[in-house]
Amino acid sequence: MTKPVQARSFDAIAADYDAHRPSYPPALFDAVEELAGVPLAGARVADVGAGTGLGTARLHERGARVTAVEPGDGMAEQFRRSLPDVSLVRGDGNNLPLRTGSMDLITYAQAWHWTDPARSIPEARRVLRPGGALALWWNDGDPSVEWLVDQENRMR
Ligand SMILES: C[S@@+](CC[C@H](N)C(=O)[O-])C[C@H]1O[C@@H](n2cnc3c(N)ncnc32)[C@H](O)[C@@H]1O
Repeated sequence: MTKPVQARSFDAIAADYDAHRPSYPPALFDAVEELAGVPLAGARVADVGAGTGLGTARLHERGARVTAVEPGDGMAEQFRRSLPDVSLVRGDGNNLPLRTGSMDLITYAQAWHWTDPARSIPEARRVLRPGGALALWWNDGDPSVEWLVDQENRMR
């Protein structure tokens, strides 16, 4: 399967993804605020590859003015069902549908790896205001949980 085809694979299972994928802990957003030097309350944030809105919801709860960006039809549909009051625009990280210098923070929750960094890095720089920040995060297996370690080993 090519990367663009894999990148669209979420759309067929968007409702299940939304129901079963774990969200993100408050400590993550504390760390983003501290490392980026951007308080989330009132910040203009683009959450790119927003999917069904798991990360977007947490940013929104903390008072960020979030614009979600999502390329996939199924994920975007589910996003609109889950977060009808949060702004969502269709597009992707390689060609952001956002104005130059318009964001304090750009976030990618488990989505950056789907972009082409040769395009997504210049796009992030364009859309961020001077001194703005790009925050990328992924879930990692907890090495103290035995069944997770076994699963990692089987996959390897
Ligand atoms: C693992 S999901 C993460 C969704 C959400 N951020 C979350 O934390 O649950 C990856 C998302 O990236 C999106 N995606 C795929 N290609 C992308 C691209 N080039 N730029 C931005 N997002 C992309 C997919 O459609 C999918 O919604």
